[in-house]
Amino acid sequence: MCGIIGIIGKAGVAPLLLEGLKRLEYRGYDSAGIATLVDSRIERRRAEGRIVNLAARIEKEPIAGQTGIGHTRWATHGIPNEINAHPHASSKVAVVHNGIIENFQALRKELEGFGIHFETDTDTEVIVHLITHYLDEGLTPEAATAKTLHRLEGAFALGVIFANESSLMIGARRGSPLAIGYGDGEMYLGSDALALAPLTSKITYLEEGDWAVLTPTGVTIHDETDAVIERKIEKSAASGALEGKGNYPHFMLKEIFEQPAVIGDTLHALLNPVTRTIVLPDLPFDLAGISRATIIACGTSFYAALVAKYWLEAVAGLAVDVDIASEFRYRNAGMPKGGLAIFISQSGETADTLAALRYAKKQGQHTLALVNVAESSLAREAEASLLTYAGPEIGVASTKAFTTQLTVLACLTIALARARGAIDHADEARLSAALTEVPSRAVEVLNHDERLKGLADDIAGVRDVLYLGRGTSYPIALEGALKLKEISYIHAEGYAAGEMKHGPIALIDEGMPIIVIAPSDPLFEKTASNVQEVIARGGRVIFLSDRTGAERLGRVAAATIELPEVDPFVTPILYAIPVQLLAYHIAVLKGTNVDQPRNLAKSVTVE
Ligand code: AGP
Repeated sequence: MCGIIGIIGKAGVAPLLLEGLKRLEYRGYDSAGIATLVDSRIERRRAEGRIVNLAARIEKEPIAGQTGIGHTRWATHGIPNEINAHPHASSKVAVVHNGIIENFQALRKELEGFGIHFETDTDTEVIVHLITHYLDEGLTPEAATAKTLHRLEGAFALGVIFANESSLMIGARRGSPLAIGYGDGEMYLGSDALALAPLTSKITYLEEGDWAVLTPTGVTIHDETDAVIERKIEKSAASGALEGKGNYPHFMLKEIFEQPAVIGDTLHALLNPVTRTIVLPDLPFDLAGISRATIIACGTSFYAALVAKYWLEAVAGLAVDVDIASEFRYRNAGMPKGGLAIFISQSGETADTLAALRYAKKQGQHTLALVNVAESSLAREAEASLLTYAGPEIGVASTKAFTTQLTVLACLTIALARARGAIDHADEARLSAALTEVPSRAVEVLNHDERLKGLADDIAGVRDVLYLGRGTSYPIALEGALKLKEISYIHAEGYAAGEMKHGPIALIDEGMPIIVIAPSDPLFEKTASNVQEVIARGGRVIFLSDRTGAERLGRVAAATIELPEVDPFVTPILYAIPVQLLAYHIAVLKGTNVDQPRNLAKSVTVE
């Protein structure tokens, strides 16, 4: 997923483009570049790797110009090097692109047939040459771009500038987000509001198929039929300044330690601690009438969906299906009438999850988005949305977004259970009280940071790690394994503890640590048996439990982390924190780039 920024400014735009790209770097960081108009000619500076490399390049070779576009790349076509870095350009036009042009081979063949030479392996370059071709045929920049857009198949967010047109920039959106920003005598394009936050909080989000013609004083927006349409100007909620890392070495560690506060903020929006009741925002459908829930997400957000399945079935007595979006969207899944489809996404821009939402809407489902970005595509396209109040999550590995997703899902579970008459007020008060305690219990869990850092030493050198859990601890085992994989590059698997004897127990040897997530909940004894089976075969168990669990099994484990004893309803939220910290410290020992791990991006806006 790439990041795009464009500025028609009143002064040199290069520093502003760089600042915007730094705020977009979490979307992809294989390579980066900017293009500006210098005396109406297109000039470019590009560099492989992170934005710092581009900044150094521009330091060495400054670039003027008041109109420009910038791009930070997560490679889809063409290896991440300078040649394939955006912007791509001809002498007449420069383009930055987020997405995938699915018919680029056919278009490339057609253009090569006109004698056009391609420099790169990217799909994006066909856009440059197609617009240039239509310009050469005498079309205006607007008409040439519109005609090109109609030839493209696939997903794109585009920024386009034209030689000799310093007061013109065109943006287009189909399948990848793009926002217009309004300045004072300046206009902006950005992949998201965060990128534009230091420049403006007046934002218009383009809808699917829109394309926009920007001048220094305003914008004309066209829909997919090229008709001129109005789109509303909103006040962006994105924070005005991307807070730095503060005293933390990485955004990920800062965001792990923000969890007590942001879980509290999220609870504050949904739970009345005095009446100990859940107060959801008004929803355009009756929770009592929901016949079945389907929860769809990707990655860490999918593990939040898995936890919610256990909660909704056990507490609300509601039948629940869960699936990863990339599978669901092609499964042709039958969906029940009067069903509720819930889509969980930190970014609100994940392409597969968005596609799944559109499928569910066609199936007549009530749709609910659970997002961390209020203005995101998912939030805007769903019938209703619930927000996590995690604040901007910059570390690519999701942490505070996950625990605030669980917090919202726990509140939704209680509200659905109440609406269905599955719980009475006393139950609601008990569950709400357990949730109210979570922020302070999370602080206690964070106090184990040094202990977990010590354990990291024992694990950093291994090749494989196994995470085990049962019930709502099973998704936490999956999440722990994902955290470790994505930031330390150590192979790890999460497994249902009860499944060990059906095969994976063959893996056990002293070289593979087993992280067991087992609060003393009703399933504890079952998991304790699995732990004994593993230890009997020489397995080295790191045990995450509470005092009761530690007294029962602590002696046989290689190490035990004793977490606060809490209502089993809230253990998934708390037990996520030690697996985050363990992965973090192991990654630091391995020397990987914790905030921007290799090959990853924060928001997967391509399928
Ligand atoms: C989580 O640590 C990963 N970065 C990734 O799995 C992420 O959860 C997934 O891509 C979904 O993103 P979303 O929540 O923004 O939809």
